[in-house]
Parts: sequence; structure tokens; C-alpha cells
Amino acid sequence: MGPRIRAFRPGEERALYEICLRTGASGEDASTMYRDPNLLGEIYVGPYLHLAPALALVGEDEAGVAGYVLGVPDTRAFEQACEREWWPAIRSRYPLGVHPPNSPDDRLIRMIHDPPEASADVVERYPAHLHIDLLPRLQGRGYGRLLLEALFDGLRGFGAPAVHLGVGLANQRAIGFYERMGFTVVHRYADSQVMARPL
Ligand SMILES: CC(C)(COP(=O)(O)OP(=O)(O)OC[C@H]1O[C@@H](n2cnc3c(N)ncnc32)[C@H](O)[C@@H]1OP(=O)(O)O)[C@@H](O)C(=O)NCCC(=O)NCCS
Repeated sequence: MGPRIRAFRPGEERALYEICLRTGASGEDASTMYRDPNLLGEIYVGPYLHLAPALALVGEDEAGVAGYVLGVPDTRAFEQACEREWWPAIRSRYPLGVHPPNSPDDRLIRMIHDPPEASADVVERYPAHLHIDLLPRLQGRGYGRLLLEALFDGLRGFGAPAVHLGVGLANQRAIGFYERMGFTVVHRYADSQVMARPL
């Protein structure tokens, strides 16, 4: 039997943090980049599993969970919920000033203490957002499309009219995938861009 997609189950948090790390350097393995292997997951996975587990889907094969998509229907509401229910505990676990200034770990810990907010023009038009990461063994086989389309159904079920995401300009493969999946660029930063599409 080939890989299948299904709902995330409590207890799989560690596996998803690991996938986040293994794909966290513009789609490539980031495990040699960070001293602390959990930081990326604490920012890009943990809050979604904690606050929006119904919109967490995984791809699984015989060897285990090998990919995920995570989403929220209302980015502003999610940012506020994170301030109440996620960041306080994470901030006390990861104090500032532990890692060398401006090192990769230091930059992530500063994000935890001062998380960036999605820009107003983006959240007004594209209130939902998502993250998707597949380990190499699941890539290029149609599972990215399957996971995104399943997430889109979930987001529609929560009434979201449109969805956005952030992607680094160094990750050209992902940009090509998102274009193919109907996303266009709606906001540019120095090293990244926001892409969005209607639901
Ligand atoms: C980017 C990623 C999610 C794409 O998922 P995937 O399973 O490899 O993509 P799929 O095989 O489902 O491809 C879906 C469609 O996009 C197309 N596609 C994929 N990559 C493409 C690219 N770089 N350029 C153009 N089209 C592309 C496929 O041909 C396919 O087209 P079709 O369904 O119309 O025939 C996956 O490769 C991944 O997780 N990479 C590492 C982590 C990462 O970069 N995450 C994104 C961080 S912002």
C-alpha cells in the first residue's frame, strides 16, 4: 500500500517537529544549522497543533509520518491566541541572550519574543494561512497537492475565503509548486514573499 494522508493524531508532535527541522533550510535539512533542534518546530509547528489541530493533516508511509500541512482560517485570531496560549510558556523556556548574537538560534528566539505579524493588506484579503513540509521520500509524488487540497476543504469548512503563505526566495522549488497550485505573489520582502489564492 502506498502512502496515505490522514488527520494528525495527538502524540505525533515530535515527528512533525523533526520534519520541520529536516526541511527547514529552504526546503533542505536544517539540522546542522541550529544548536537547538526544537526551535523551528516551536515556531512553525507547535502553535498550529496546539491551537488548530483539526486543520493538521499528515502524509504517512510504512516508515511513519513523512509530511504535514498545517493551517488556520483566521490569521489575526491565531496571532492573538498565540499571544495568550502559546508564546508565554515558550518564551520562558527559551530566554533571550543564550546563543551568540544574530546566530540562527538567536534569530529564532528573538522571533519567539517578538513574533512578526502578517501585514494588514494580506490578512484582510487572504485571512487564512498555511505551512506544508514533506520529507524527501514523499516529495514529487503528488502528496503536496493532495495535502493542500485536503487543507483547502478544511479551511472552506471554517468559512475562510482565501489563504496566504510565506516562502523564502531561496526556495525556488516551493515557489514553482505554489504557482502550479494557483498561488500568486501578493507581498514582497527582501528575502521572502507572500503568495495567496482564493479558496
Ligand atoms: C514544496 C513541496 C511541499 C511540494 O510538494 P510535492 O509533493 O513535492 O509536490 P507534488 O508532487 O504534489 O506536485 C504538485 C504539482 O506541482 C507541480 N510542481 C511541483 N514542484 C514544482 C516546481 N518546482 N515547479 C513547477 N511545478 C511544480 C507538480 O508537477 C504537480 O503538478 P500536477 O499535480 O499539476 O501534475 C515539497 O516538495 C516539500 O515539502 N519540500 C520541502 C519543504 C518545503 O520546501 N516546504 C515549503 C516551505 S515554504
